[in-house]
Amino acid sequence: MLDKDFWEKIYKNDPLYKIPWEYGRSVAELVQAIKRHKIKKGKALDLCCGAGTQTIYLARQGFDAAGLDLSGSAIERAKKRARRMKVKCNFMEGYALSFLLKKPKFGFILDRGGFHNIPESKRKEYVHGLYGALKKAGKLMLFCFSARKERAWNHFRARDIQKLFSPEFRIEECKEINGIPPSKGRRDLLYFLMKKDGSNRNLSGKS
Ligand SMILES: C[S@@+](CC[C@H](N)C(=O)[O-])C[C@H]1O[C@@H](n2cnc3c(N)ncnc32)[C@H](O)[C@@H]1O
Repeated sequence: MLDKDFWEKIYKNDPLYKIPWEYGRSVAELVQAIKRHKIKKGKALDLCCGAGTQTIYLARQGFDAAGLDLSGSAIERAKKRARRMKVKCNFMEGYALSFLLKKPKFGFILDRGGFHNIPESKRKEYVHGLYGALKKAGKLMLFCFSARKERAWNHFRARDIQKLFSPEFRIEECKEINGIPPSKGRRDLLYFLMKKDGSNRNLSGKS
């Protein structure tokens, strides 16, 4: 598992172009989902937002966008970038799971690279947290490491995600993608768009 110092070092020292997962622009799956009206405008959370690239994009698209990350340097950077671009976002420093368990309410949550850093023992709690932090019929966009070519504790097959996220979520879209800019190489990720499934009322009182 990667600790706070690992992320802090990267976001404190590395220019964006050197950070492997950082596109410096919105990711295609998010752009397409918004364009095709698969996500309703409203309160959106970019969970584990890093330098805030996707948060800023969401705000520019008319979302009331918030970004949360455990790295203070990432959050500082995200705030500076948003200020420079004259975009209003709410950036917060904090741990994803603790934040989710406070049950804030969002219509949309983006998790690009956060979930696969959560220890196995906390995964189910994290999924419950995502469920609790979404409004009725809210959507979750998830990007996580794919186990297609590489096996590790934090690499997944589509059926692993289905098992972990059901019955709280219904998967609407799923595909394998290259999760980093092609100029930076290749990193196989799984992409999912999911909907909070309100039909199941027997979920430890969560709605
Ligand atoms: C691979 S980066 C992805 C950053 C961003 N989502 C993006 O798409 O550029 C993973 C991010 O998760 C953050 N992170 C890791 N574990 C976290 C946790 N438990 N709570 C909050 N943030 C976390 C790291 O600081 C880092 O910014």
